[in-house]
Amino acid sequence: MATGLRYADKVVIVTGGTRGIGEGIVREFGEAGGQILEIGERGKALQQELEDCRGPGEARFVVCDVCSETDIKVGWNFSYLCWYFALTHLRKTKGNIINISSLVGITGQKYAVTYVATKGALTAMTKAMAIDESQYGVRVNSISPGNIWTPMWEKLASQTANPKATIQEGKNAQLLGRMGTPAECAAAALYLAGDATFCTGTDLVLSAGAELGYAQKSRQGPSSGPED
Ligand SMILES: NC(=O)c1ccc[n+]([C@@H]2O[C@H](COP(=O)([O-])OP(=O)(O)OC[C@H]3O[C@@H](n4cnc5c(N)ncnc54)[C@H](O)[C@@H]3O)[C@@H](O)[C@H]2O)c1
Repeated sequence: MATGLRYADKVVIVTGGTRGIGEGIVREFGEAGGQILEIGERGKALQQELEDCRGPGEARFVVCDVCSETDIKVGWNFSYLCWYFALTHLRKTKGNIINISSLVGITGQKYAVTYVATKGALTAMTKAMAIDESQYGVRVNSISPGNIWTPMWEKLASQTANPKATIQEGKNAQLLGRMGTPAECAAAALYLAGDATFCTGTDLVLSAGAELGYAQKSRQGPSSGPED
């Protein structure tokens, strides 16, 4: 048994744990002594790597496309339905759920209606579920990251006309002038899971102040407003 660790011997299920933010969470909880079950679409090579350097915890990998009903039926039921099946266990153990939402679910984002709507719904669902599950002692929280440097960000930047400029813009969006890291998201997740015992329905905005302050929002000059 791993002792003296922040998450010793607790079972942690991480969806999308094979790269980016999810991979950071697998590593962080592994270091904290967690018994981790990673769920991902692929990643055998990474599975071995993570199992080899997981720290004091344990790690097991299950291939599952969360969009595939067949995959879901074979083993566990993830995404929204995942909650339903996991909850039976979580209510017994007084466990907790952390959803990875996004800052844009609060602020909106250009040309991203579907993504923004999904993330807004996820943050709202977190709060609604926190209310319902409080009677069982299950906490439900979310994290809303700003720009985090992950393979997803790298791929999106590479599809633009000037990837270097896109990445610089991505860094400039934060007050701290850089993107966050998967490790920083993972530290926030470990805080919510392990330490934040009085937090439920909380959305932890992890954005280096990206949403703060006034900025140019329109290219037009002043029009007929109350100040004209
Ligand atoms: N990177 C950012 O700037 C950022 C900002 C805000 C929110 N987020 C959110 O954080 C989460 C992770 O983002 P990321 O940047 O680490 O992405 P990523 O593309 O780097 O990693 C995504 C992970 O999800 C897994 N995955 C994808 N489709 C799957 C499927 N159908 N079934 C099972 N697993 C699947 C992949 O295997 C991978 O492990 C996403 O929900 C994203 O919206 C990211």
